[in-house]
Amino acid sequence: MAAATSRFHRLRVAAVDRLTDDSVALTFAVPPELRAEYRYAPGQHLAIRRFADGGAEIRRTYSVCSPAVGEDGPTEVRVGVRLVEGGEFSTYAHKEIAAGDELEVMTPAGRFTLEPRPGHFAAIVGGSGITPVLSIVATLLAREPEARFCLIRSDRSAASTMFLEEVADLKDRYPQRFQLVTALSREEQQAGLPSGRLDEERLTGLLPALLPVEQIDGWFLCGPLGLVQGAERALRGLGVRRARIHEEIFHVDSGTAPATSTAPALAHSTVTAQLDGRSGSWPVQDGESLLETVLRNRPDAPYACKGGVCGTCRAFLVTGEVRMDRNYALEPEETEAGYVLACQSHPATEQVELDFDR
Ligand code: FES
Repeated sequence: MAAATSRFHRLRVAAVDRLTDDSVALTFAVPPELRAEYRYAPGQHLAIRRFADGGAEIRRTYSVCSPAVGEDGPTEVRVGVRLVEGGEFSTYAHKEIAAGDELEVMTPAGRFTLEPRPGHFAAIVGGSGITPVLSIVATLLAREPEARFCLIRSDRSAASTMFLEEVADLKDRYPQRFQLVTALSREEQQAGLPSGRLDEERLTGLLPALLPVEQIDGWFLCGPLGLVQGAERALRGLGVRRARIHEEIFHVDSGTAPATSTAPALAHSTVTAQLDGRSGSWPVQDGESLLETVLRNRPDAPYACKGGVCGTCRAFLVTGEVRMDRNYALEPEETEAGYVLACQSHPATEQVELDFDR
C-alpha cells in the first residue's frame, strides 16, 4: 500500500481540531502529485519529524484516523495526537502547530491493518488506541456490507475519550453491524455496562457474554502494553488462535523489555543493507544497533521510534543472525518469516545482510 521505501515530504497542516483536553487531530493536505504515495491501508500510521532548536531530530508516529479512500489516494490525511506528559512532540503539537504550518510527514507504514472483507471482527482498545481502529471500522463498514464489527474500548472518563462523536456516528449509521461497548475506569456506568479497567480477568468474563468469541475472524488489540498483553492472554485463554490476533502497542514503559533472542552479540562484524534499490556494506561499531550503523551511511534508512514499538525499521534478514533487544512491533509470523527490527538488532554473526526493500 505505501511506497516500498518510506519517504518524508513537507505537508501543509489543513486543520488542527481539539478532540479532548489532552488530544488533537491534525489534518494534512496532500497535493495531487503525492496522493499515490500517501495512499494508506486502514490502520496504518505516519511518522512526523521535526528538528528541535539545537538541531536534534525528533520523530513520532501517529495513526491515521480517517477512513481509507480508493486507488487515487487521499486529498487529506488526519491523525490523532494525545498529549504525553513531558512528550516533546505532542506538547509542540498541542501548543504550537496551527493550520498553514508545514511539517515533514513520512509516507504511511504499518501492518496493523484490515482490508475490507466479509466477516465478523472485533477490537479491544484503550485510550488513544482507538485511533487506527476508527479508520479500520469506518472503512470496513462503509465498503463491505457483509462485515460486522464489535468495538470494546476503555478510557478514564467520557471527557478524556477521543473520537466520541465519530464513534457515535458509526453506531447511528450501522446499528445492525456495529456493536460498541465502553468501559470507563473513573466513572460510574449505567447498569449492565462494565466499569473499571479491562484486564485479563474482566475480559475473560466479559467477552463470551458479548459476542461469539470462537467465530470472530480477526481481533485488533491496540493501546498501552498492559492492556494489549492482558487482552491477548484473555483471548488465548478462551481458545482464540494467535494468528487471528493483531496487536499494536502505543506505550511501553522503559525497563519492561524482554530480550527475544539469546544469541551472543559480536564485537566486530559487517552489515550489508539493501535500501531503495542500492546496497552497501559497513562495519558495525561496538554496541550500536544495525539501524545506527546503516543510518551513519544511509541517512534515508526508515525509522521512527527506535524503541521496538512502531515497526518502521522492519527489514528482512537475508543472511547471518542477529540478537534483538525487544520487539513489540512484529507479529510472530513476521519473525518466523525472517523479519527483524533494525533498531533493536545487534549482529550475532560476522556478516549480516538486511533488505529494507522487501
Ligand atoms: S524504529 Fe520503531 S521499531 Fe524500530
